[in-house]
Amino acid sequence: MTEALIKTCGLCKTFRNGRLETPVLHDIDLEIGRGEFVAIMGPSGCGKSTLMHIVGLMLSASSGEIFIDGKNAADFSDGQRARVRRDKIGFVFQRFNLLPTISAYKNIAVAERIRGHKVDGQVDRALAAVGMSDKGRFKPGQLSIGQQQRIAIARAISHEPALVLADEPTGNLDSGNAERILELFSEIHRERKVAIMMITHSEAAASVADRVIHMADGRISNA
Ligand SMILES: Nc1ncnc2c1ncn2[C@@H]1O[C@H](COP(=O)(O)OP(=O)(O)OP(=O)(O)O)[C@@H](O)[C@H]1O
Ligand SMILES: [Mg+2]
Repeated sequence: MTEALIKTCGLCKTFRNGRLETPVLHDIDLEIGRGEFVAIMGPSGCGKSTLMHIVGLMLSASSGEIFIDGKNAADFSDGQRARVRRDKIGFVFQRFNLLPTISAYKNIAVAERIRGHKVDGQVDRALAAVGMSDKGRFKPGQLSIGQQQRIAIARAISHEPALVLADEPTGNLDSGNAERILELFSEIHRERKVAIMMITHSEAAASVADRVIHMADGRISNA
């Protein structure tokens, strides 16, 4: 069997603020295969975003291990962590997080430059992949919210990451837009063979994902 893209073993996270300890994740064993689309569901506060932040190397676990592409993240230097995050992962947020003063095209181009890439065809390819080829010149405020999320998705896939992490990407959208964005994720997953880990409260997301992982109180409840 080929190695999982993401594998966690006994992952725990406790937030510590002074003497206050908040245990949030307990003993998480999770595998995400290459090209697998996984939806994460569970009540508010159960630790979904915290888990995603650890998988995205934005946060360290308190104990346990996480392997990315078979490599133990504990062995990464700060520079390696940043490179893996930049090169292998794309992020999509509930609030899109687009820069408001520059065009959709530039929002994607800036992300590519930050990744250290010379910008050539990848911005146009990403815009085409999300059906926004004719909207590159528009600033975020000149786009509908569904279109803004498409641009944010284009930004997350322009460097062809192995994994897209999406934290409630349809949370700010009406049901029609939410459905179309889910279809877009499903299409991107099919056509680009990219793995997707999507946190969602939408039952509809379960029908586009390969697998649904349910969390409750910091644990995976359907393991
Ligand atoms: N930096 C932090 N310091 C202390 N506690 C934190 C911190 N970040 C998150 N928590 C706590 O961790 C728990 C899980 O938060 P998390 O954001 O992972 O939940 P969630 O499942 O994503 O919820 P939601 O569906 O509302 O987004 C919450 O009780 C939260 O208060
Ligand atoms: Mg959350």
